[in-house]
Amino acid sequence: MMDGLLLLGFVAAVSVGSPVGRYAGDKVLRLKPENEQHLQFIRNLARIVKIDFWQPHSAELVTTNRSVDLRVTADRASDVQTGLEEIGLKYDVLIENVQNLIEKQFDQKETGSSGYNYEKYHRWDEIQSWTANIADENPRLISRFEIGRSYEGRAIYLLRVGKRTGSVKPTIFMDCGIHAREWISPAFCQWFVKEAVKTYGCNSTMTTLLNKLDFLVVPVINVDGYVYSWTKDRLWRKTRSRNPGSNCVGTDPNRNFDAKWCSIGASRNPCDETYCGSHAESEKEVKAVADIMRRYYAIKAYLTIHSYSQMCLFPYSYTYSLTPNYKELNTMAWNAVQALSSLYGTQYIYGPAAITIYPSAGGSDDWAYDLGIKYPFTFELRDTGKCGFLLPESQIRPTCEETMLAINYIATYVLNNPY
Ligand code: ARG
Ligand code: ZN
Repeated sequence: MMDGLLLLGFVAAVSVGSPVGRYAGDKVLRLKPENEQHLQFIRNLARIVKIDFWQPHSAELVTTNRSVDLRVTADRASDVQTGLEEIGLKYDVLIENVQNLIEKQFDQKETGSSGYNYEKYHRWDEIQSWTANIADENPRLISRFEIGRSYEGRAIYLLRVGKRTGSVKPTIFMDCGIHAREWISPAFCQWFVKEAVKTYGCNSTMTTLLNKLDFLVVPVINVDGYVYSWTKDRLWRKTRSRNPGSNCVGTDPNRNFDAKWCSIGASRNPCDETYCGSHAESEKEVKAVADIMRRYYAIKAYLTIHSYSQMCLFPYSYTYSLTPNYKELNTMAWNAVQALSSLYGTQYIYGPAAITIYPSAGGSDDWAYDLGIKYPFTFELRDTGKCGFLLPESQIRPTCEETMLAINYIATYVLNNPY
């Protein structure tokens, strides 16, 4: 029995992330294109060899004066580096060997833990039981709801966090895990809920917030993708829905919302990382979240947590135009970022997403804004590319602690500025 269990653990440990060492020898490079020749080189590269754009998400979005992070496969890495040097395109190697970094994370997995360990990344089944347990243990503050099912039939949970008062309170909606590989995101949603129940009644800010507001928290939207990122491909981004007529799987849920859907910065090709889907809300996960937000008319702010880049973004993404309340959003973002950096000095940039990161339609933040929610923010958490999506577990605590300060600032603002 013991041996059987140990063996299972071992098999899981090696198969997870990459059954065939999928990313062995792959490198992540940061390119700094300076002229049209450099841009042309990158676009050509994307056509001939398999390139995984980490930031931005496709060759079309590459511009000069902005760096580009991409993963090149082991077999092409040295050719690509030679090519870059020949045309004088400056670059840094961000990650020497992607597979090594992935395996380091999975190795750390089994150590420690009595009770729920918020400083580890967790598999979906652990997160799922956590949602049930934390709600059971804190009935006065938390209720759990199933808001829908994923493509593969998994439950999508929503936790309502806040003191029950018997009347409708201004509400802040926060979701995590829309993109599968951004593991720090679900870790943050869990951290937030943990802090809420732990500090309610002792910390005056949190007590006020929970007395006067409700938080609706979806710890993982894209559950199928999240599971897949644990079992098959650590760097999976999209959902896992099948695309008729294509062998490529999945839709980018953050291009699938009904906000100028697929008009810019999104792809009609199911094989792309930013595939917008067959129509707006084609993804069950997106539909489930959108349905809830349409029904809860007390939602005053919308927060959606991604990684990586260290940015605080707000609408619009689908156009370069500014929202009518641009000034207010910009001030809020500035304050949020100030609060965040006050703890460890972590620097964030902020601004309208189209200008600050790249234009793209079908995002949840734009959709929330157009629904009438005046304060929508997308957070891109740590880091700035050293580990990217593979942020080490040792950074979960500092990342969550500093992010709490930004979220608390926004929540307090919402409380003090009713509309
Ligand atoms: N990295 C995020 C994404 O690609 C940025 C989201 C910004 N908002 C947006 N609506 N695109 O989805
Ligand atoms: Zn993301």
